[in-house]
Amino acid sequence: MENQYIIKGGACLQGEVTISGAKNAALGILAAAIMTDETVMIDNLPNVRDINVLLTAIEGIGATVNRLGPHEVEINGSTINNMTIDYDSIKKIRASYYLLGALLGKYSRAQVALPGGCDIGSRPIDQHLKGFRALGATVNIEYGMINTYTDALTGSHIFLDVVSVGATINIMLAACLAEGKTVIENAAKEPHIVDVANFLNSMGANIKGAGTDKIRINGVERLHATEYSIIPDQIEAGTFMVAAAATKGDVLIRNVIPQHLEAISNKLIEIGAEVEEFDDAVRVAADHRLSHTQIKTLPHPGFPTDMQPQIATLLALSQGTSTVTESIFENRFKYVDELARMGANIKVEGNVAIIEGTEGLTGAAISAPDLRAGAALVVAALAADGYTTVDSIKYIERGYECFEKKLNALGATMEKIPVDDERAVQKFKLKAG
Ligand code: UD1
Repeated sequence: MENQYIIKGGACLQGEVTISGAKNAALGILAAAIMTDETVMIDNLPNVRDINVLLTAIEGIGATVNRLGPHEVEINGSTINNMTIDYDSIKKIRASYYLLGALLGKYSRAQVALPGGCDIGSRPIDQHLKGFRALGATVNIEYGMINTYTDALTGSHIFLDVVSVGATINIMLAACLAEGKTVIENAAKEPHIVDVANFLNSMGANIKGAGTDKIRINGVERLHATEYSIIPDQIEAGTFMVAAAATKGDVLIRNVIPQHLEAISNKLIEIGAEVEEFDDAVRVAADHRLSHTQIKTLPHPGFPTDMQPQIATLLALSQGTSTVTESIFENRFKYVDELARMGANIKVEGNVAIIEGTEGLTGAAISAPDLRAGAALVVAALAADGYTTVDSIKYIERGYECFEKKLNALGATMEKIPVDDERAVQKFKLKAG
């Protein structure tokens, strides 16, 4: 049964929230974990749908997955007996294509269904394939599958034409077990690239320079067991930071690496929010309506595209005219029509959203178009006057662990109820008052 969120807006979020492990780091790390025949233990795993789907795909190729708890898993890749990831897995979670790099590195062959476009736009993977070819793999696309194989992978010098998180991770995975030295130039620098590299190094890989635009990898013969804890999720943290500011609240966000949040913190400070950094926490407070700004999404350390809908929602409530330019994905403004239904004043021209701040939003029945946009609409609902229902929350659950529980603990009034359950709506309204 499909669920929706029902939210009564208007509360200032207050208190403390603990951020879960980084989904996008975990996706790369789980794929990397199959590259040894020894048992790997991973913790601080976020308990979200994308992770559970990837674990099912990993089991599907024969690896042994032992879930020790909601945030801990043991993986053993010695039992792998199948090198094919079908379209079903890829459709549910694009990042299962990391198994292409991982299987190619370990077994010199892999077959993975070609991912299509997605909710935020067309998403080519030419740079991944260019990297595999440079490492000496043959790559054919036939019958909807990417088929890669080689006698032996050999290190190479690869210059990425676009800065791609996915291609950087996928090439890094394969290159770890290639013979000789690989250099990836124009590499992505996101915190999760560094985390995947650290994880691989803890398994005996030899990767240097992750976090800069030049990653150097000396191939090793084999990888071994490790125990590893995933970094906190930068985007989940950013979403709570924006939610605190949008509701004129005061929230201490724990289990973060403040340095990973700088692009977000700086923008919040610029528009008038209070941001205080601690060793592994950040506090965001706002006691007045914030101001306008210009934002352009860029690869790390620029402003993350995964925070674009959330910050645009905050700017929709701020004073004056702001612009938000999306330079990574072409179709990431689908939430704008939903926000307009709540009273926001946003015009999209090409890849620029022009936002005329409004004093208040009002609740409406809206639908989450994708993961981050869905989270942004929840932020809008928390700040809005009255009741909002957000459906298609399956997108939000791909990447936010216990979203409603964490928000309710900060003073929000929201619940997950079945779609079309009018009685549940009435019950919630009665209770919320
Ligand atoms: C990752 C994140 C996603 C985030 C995005 C950008 C994961 C699982 N997902 O996605 O949440 O929004 O980074 O920070 O980590 N491109 C090509 N050819 C390629 C690969 C990418 O042209 O072979 C283009 C894309 O169309 C896009 C840009 O490069 O315009 C960046 O994409 P990329 O960094 O690869 O994003 P993902 O890894 O898919």
